[in-house]
Amino acid sequence: MSSLAAHSRWEIPEIATFSEGPGGLTQLLITSPLASARIFLHGAHVAEFQPTGEAPVLFMSAESLFASGKAIRGGVPVIFPWFGAHSSRPELPAHGFARTSTWEVEALSARPDGAVLVTLRLDPNAATRALWPHEFILRHEIIVGTALEMTLVVENTSTAPLVFEEALHTYFAISDAREIAVRGLHGAEYIDKTDNQTCKREETDFLRFTSETDRVFLQTEAVCTLEDTQTGRRIVVEKSGSASTVVWNPWIAKAATMRDFGDDEWLHMCCVETANVATDAITLAPGATHRMAARLRAAH
Ligand code: BG6
Repeated sequence: MSSLAAHSRWEIPEIATFSEGPGGLTQLLITSPLASARIFLHGAHVAEFQPTGEAPVLFMSAESLFASGKAIRGGVPVIFPWFGAHSSRPELPAHGFARTSTWEVEALSARPDGAVLVTLRLDPNAATRALWPHEFILRHEIIVGTALEMTLVVENTSTAPLVFEEALHTYFAISDAREIAVRGLHGAEYIDKTDNQTCKREETDFLRFTSETDRVFLQTEAVCTLEDTQTGRRIVVEKSGSASTVVWNPWIAKAATMRDFGDDEWLHMCCVETANVATDAITLAPGATHRMAARLRAAH
């Protein structure tokens, strides 16, 4: 049975439909009175989210690859079970395997208020065990309403503690990276990945982008707000179960080295990632479940 035929039983006519997307990847298109969204089963990847009457909230690169084994550039890559390069085996894929694995649909429904709920699930398989020899169930619960709510749920089905990092690596669509501010991180400590992993403290309540920025903020549960002065739009990122926030913009030189990213696209995106990484990595007891949630909404 083809992937599409297997998923058609979940469809909600005119609201949630499966089709073959770019690169032959199976996509779920959601069109409700509240919002539209595009979600790939490849990576459980929310690629588009647009509340009705709003401009798109998420940035997607026009140069993104759409292929088995490759990460999608933009939207919300799901990062698990390690963040960035693997700590002891740098030859392993950056940011783990969740973003390049094919997930299954576990549930799909529409609420009376118009929000659409989808749960995607990833179980260990030969490929994940070769990279990471642990047992788990990973679920990505997505609610498409006036806000986009995403919850990454990790269940430890093994007999030993599970240690992992995770991130909802959200790319936001902005008018001009040089003009926006990220608020909410004043006083938080961060690892500056552009300065030899130096530990620093955020000195201002208006984090602005003036060069390549790659900051891993630790021990912060703060709500972050992206203020887009050109459009007057704010994007609010609320989170729970997440102690880290990663802020990233590759700027000019790094953008030029990225094959799946346009040379000028750094202007129109920034990442504010809901995460548990580095010293905030999670240790989960056998049988236990951990939930990390992000809620994104546009405001004016
Ligand atoms: C960010 C990291 O989260 O992701 C950066 O902090 C990294 O260091 C970026 O460059 C993009 O990673 P990738 O693997 O998608 O190119």
